[in-house]
Amino acid sequence: MSELEKNARRMVAAGKGILAADESTTTIGKRFDAIGVVSTETSRRDYRELMFRTGAMKEFISGVILYDETIWQDAADGTPLVKLITDAGALPGIKVDEGTEALPGSPKELITKGLDGLSKRLPKYYERGARFAKWRGVIDIGAGIPSHNCVHANAHALARYAALCQQANIVPIVEPEVMMDGEHDIDRCYGVTEWVLNETFRELYYAGVKLEGIVLKPNMAIAGKKAAKRAGVQEVAEKTVRMLKNCVPPSVPGIAFLSGGQSDEEATAHLDAMNKLGPLPWALTFSYGRALQAAPQKAWSGKKENVASAQRALAHRARMNGLASLGKWVQGLEKEAA
Ligand code: 13P
Repeated sequence: MSELEKNARRMVAAGKGILAADESTTTIGKRFDAIGVVSTETSRRDYRELMFRTGAMKEFISGVILYDETIWQDAADGTPLVKLITDAGALPGIKVDEGTEALPGSPKELITKGLDGLSKRLPKYYERGARFAKWRGVIDIGAGIPSHNCVHANAHALARYAALCQQANIVPIVEPEVMMDGEHDIDRCYGVTEWVLNETFRELYYAGVKLEGIVLKPNMAIAGKKAAKRAGVQEVAEKTVRMLKNCVPPSVPGIAFLSGGQSDEEATAHLDAMNKLGPLPWALTFSYGRALQAAPQKAWSGKKENVASAQRALAHRARMNGLASLGKWVQGLEKEAA
């Protein structure tokens, strides 16, 4: 089995999932504002260090997605942060996209930047220990959008990125995110996501990407945040699984969802309900940012004396999602911990 395939399988190993800790400096700044912490290189390091030193990483976390600043940082005692991650038995990963800009021809929509120079950056990340990467395409739902231009351009960029990663022996996380912002219902999200996934897999094929060596990171089929009617857990699970079965070949080893603005417990309940519908052709797990980190961030609030309780909060969410990735979560476990 190739290194790519081995690592892709490790990323979606049974009972484990991915910690997305790759917030850009701007995004982590917003999260820190909300908890009253000044965002500096050191505070960002301290916060990420506390996560990577959480004991539960060993049991429930298969990989950690890092931002460029973080991958080069050392812990307070001089140990590289990537070493903390590998010591916990997880794979370090790196966000390689450079954010978004207005899409020419469809100025209300976004295209992801970062292909220029990527072939030169990837070997440096590999040398530092990265074994997988992430690139996020953003698709908004609204009046008259997404356009074909947006769906196609983002799928094409994802495929170019994925092919470059595989050439550097780095597993690409392919993340086309259909945003939850908006008033659309679950069926509109389903339709748009199906289109986006079909376009993405067509472009991956044209680019010669080996599906055994990728991990797909999609959104779930879910109603927009401002929708008149929320879909129930069972409906989200059934529609998401049906959508994925229609679009994702079984040679893809695993699918690791983004949380996209769902509450912590919603993100866990949805993942669990999907796995209870199994057996499924691929591993279904998590690659959550907010749904893993909201609780530890709040518990930490930038104070040294809160590090242990922040680690407990992260361990709890990691364990809940680890169980959900096996379809073994029960809601009562949430109360036990509280
Ligand atoms: P969320 O789980 O907060 O959506 O973040 C995951 C991620 O990496 C988005 O690109």
